[in-house]
Amino acid sequence: MALANHHLYRGHSLLRRIPSDVRAAVTSRIVFPRASVVAQASPMATAAAPEAPTAQAGSAQKRVVFVVGGPGSGKGTQCDMLARDFGVPFFSAGELIRSLIASGCPEGKQLQDIILQGHIIPSEVTVGLLQKAMATTTSDTVLIDGFPRNHENRTVWASQVGYDCDMVLLFDCPDEVMLQRLLGRAGQGSRADDNEETIKKRVKNFKSQMEPVLEHYRAIGKVTTIRTDRPIADVYAEVSGIWRQRFANTTAA
Ligand code: ADP
Ligand code: C5P
Ligand code: MG
Repeated sequence: MALANHHLYRGHSLLRRIPSDVRAAVTSRIVFPRASVVAQASPMATAAAPEAPTAQAGSAQKRVVFVVGGPGSGKGTQCDMLARDFGVPFFSAGELIRSLIASGCPEGKQLQDIILQGHIIPSEVTVGLLQKAMATTTSDTVLIDGFPRNHENRTVWASQVGYDCDMVLLFDCPDEVMLQRLLGRAGQGSRADDNEETIKKRVKNFKSQMEPVLEHYRAIGKVTTIRTDRPIADVYAEVSGIWRQRFANTTAA
């Protein structure tokens, strides 16, 4: 499905059938103040966080770090380590989408079909999920993995969230290395989109659709690039060094 086609979904039934709490976050800049249960229990948030409100959690402006890079470049691996060592809440756009699908929502099949084609789902849905996830933490700094993925993701974030990220960490890794890593992960059997055909589409779409996003962020000096075709520990030495230098006083939720 071409990117343009998913506008069919946006004005169509897909958004109307998104669960009401996500839809509210999608359609309003005032997100639900929910407790940080997901972020406290695990740095990885899920779509479902139906917990009681807290005083501080909510839509206050945060320092947001977007972690972007091709599929298999190591975003999840490195974000897990940053979350563990610095206590920074970490939200994965892809995980939030997979959790929404796993929740059995009626539009799940349409979303899964888009993912299996290696395309990007409607940005209002993803930004709504991220807003809801961010509202679960009082931390003033959050890591967001796998977002933005295209120009529309970025512009919908700007209009729905109302402020921009502080920094974009770009993981740069050769296509062939990413392919081999994901085929290795496929052996663990957890993701339907980790098959060679879909991986190749994901890589191709990442490169073409991220170009304008990176151009934008480079022009305003927000991109820090890290080569990730190195051992995990070597990549982390650089990533954690950047984090320490930039966010020494990070306060976790
Ligand atoms: P992403 O979130 O960017 O798609 P992941 O962090 O999930 O990537 O990593 C994809 C696969 O590659 C996983 O099986 C992971 O263990 C492995 N991996 C991640 N970083 C490295 C690395 N630096 N060297 C070798 N394998 C890696
Ligand atoms: O980042 P991750 O590999 O978990 O993403 C898996 C898939 O989820 C992507 O290939 C894409 O289909 C979908 N996705 C999306 N929009 C995002 C992030 C992920 O549509 N911002
Ligand atoms: Mg990932």
